[in-house]
Amino acid sequence: MPGLLATVDAVLAPVFEQLQPGAQSGLRPSQRADLQVDGALGLARALGRPPREVAEDILARARAAGLEAICDGAEVAGPGFINLVLSADFLARQLGNVVSGPADMGVARAPRPLTVVVDYAAPNAAKEMHVGHLRSAIIGDCLVRLLELEGHKVIRENHIGDWGTPFGMLIEHLVDVGEEEAAQELAIGDLEAFYQAARRAYDGDPAFGERSRQRVVLLQSGDPETLRLWRSFVDHSVNYFDQSLRRLGTKLTRDDVVGESYYNSLLPKVVEDLSKKGLLVESEGALCVFPPGFTNREGKPLPLIVQNSVGGYNYATTDLAAIRDRVERLGANLLVYVVGLPQAQHFEMVFATARLAGWLTPGTEAVHVGFGNVLGPDGKMFRTRQGGTVKLAELLDEAVQRARDVITGRSDQDQLATAELEETARAVGIGAVKYADLSTDRTRDYRFDWDRMLSFDGNTGPYIQYAYARTCSIFRRAGQDVPPLAQVADDVRPPVAPEERELAKGILGFGDVIASTRATYSPHKLCVYLFELASTFTAFYEHCPVLGAPDASTRASRLALCALCAAVLSRGLDLLGMESPTRM
Ligand code: ARG
Repeated sequence: MPGLLATVDAVLAPVFEQLQPGAQSGLRPSQRADLQVDGALGLARALGRPPREVAEDILARARAAGLEAICDGAEVAGPGFINLVLSADFLARQLGNVVSGPADMGVARAPRPLTVVVDYAAPNAAKEMHVGHLRSAIIGDCLVRLLELEGHKVIRENHIGDWGTPFGMLIEHLVDVGEEEAAQELAIGDLEAFYQAARRAYDGDPAFGERSRQRVVLLQSGDPETLRLWRSFVDHSVNYFDQSLRRLGTKLTRDDVVGESYYNSLLPKVVEDLSKKGLLVESEGALCVFPPGFTNREGKPLPLIVQNSVGGYNYATTDLAAIRDRVERLGANLLVYVVGLPQAQHFEMVFATARLAGWLTPGTEAVHVGFGNVLGPDGKMFRTRQGGTVKLAELLDEAVQRARDVITGRSDQDQLATAELEETARAVGIGAVKYADLSTDRTRDYRFDWDRMLSFDGNTGPYIQYAYARTCSIFRRAGQDVPPLAQVADDVRPPVAPEERELAKGILGFGDVIASTRATYSPHKLCVYLFELASTFTAFYEHCPVLGAPDASTRASRLALCALCAAVLSRGLDLLGMESPTRM
């Protein structure tokens, strides 16, 4: 059973298709009825017929095709909309299907599962993981979960920056500090300080600068001792990233690290093949591709440089090699890149070049899922008070600390024992950081605001988690565990009270929202849905006594609604990478 909209549209879409191939029903939720069909207006224009007449025509055909079994009322309104009032029996049947239907909670499985590579997190070994990498990790992980739910084969790749000229000076600094000392510094994540110190030596000491440049040459020529030092430096960074990502609760593990250096051996062949295909142009000593359609401000064609004048490869060459590797070795037919919007043009040019070279065939899709900046409370780039990069580990510590304070400061909190309080504070604190990020349209900048993200009111993580905990508390008070859905399926009665109806429709919208969230790679849509469902649940709970229901069958039916709502909330939270504490 797909979502509510998809189910109703399964009746309407063929009618539109019949009247004009490709015409869409424009079905959407409505304030006035349950659902509204907008598509008759456009169709009428296309057919040159009066809109209300077309709407009546559609309605007659839809009735013949089974709309009666779904709706209690259906009428043409205004200039040619169709308003649909769903029947309570249909809603109850659909709720039963959420449990026993072939689709998992109304989420449609992909008819043709893809092999998807999701490229996300991708911090740089030389530097502290900054909030941009945090955003990528959070958004990317949500997309991984959505794609998996739809049944795709998902391969996670953490394309860390582990190669390039800065490693010359980092290795020299490592040698100067001593391997033991450096290991200790790096293990606690002092990457930024380490980098800054290397940078100072590089800028201030000509001899160090020269050694660093020599070291780059040694690194590139594969000198074993240099490679060993490089490897150990990268390992320390990866250990630190791994700790942070694990604490954040992402699915990424060490095994998902496929750093830039992995592609080194493939780079000469990228350039060679581009040359064979006649795509390379020499410009000021560098080898470039000029994919059509990209120009600078003066209207001159923009180059994608793949090899510089001294023979070095770069970020773009590596990304081209990665495309080949993902398509040819891994058999991917969808490539998803969760990287900040400033790199939009880089990816467009890389994708265009890969298409020209035939590495991205028409059947393979590549998408850059870009995102905006994280801003501090002052609206400027997010930094520490000292102006440095915010360390992820410290950020998460603070989130948990603040969540603990907020939870213990509430008057109506469940009395949690120490261990449970710690677990809950962790789930709420880290969840709040993730939710604040995911609930903002990813293409926009968002402001990092502790008080807002940890508030129990509004579109926040704690609000959704609290709604879930409340559903659990109802069952606790009934003296039972939240029952498995299969057990309550038969209890659902056709909703009578308006709040029951709203809750039923809310629950049934899950499949629709998963489809649209995934299709647009926009987690904020799922957040808005969960926020609305949590609010609908609150209204239901205020107006419809559950444990004190007037009769046994109403009580059972309302408890079933609670169980279904709980299941959707916690599944939704899980897709956002958040936990669902049962008490708060
Ligand atoms: N390490 C890069 C950065 O910090 C992001 C890498 C994104 N992935 C990619 N395939 N280019 O900007």
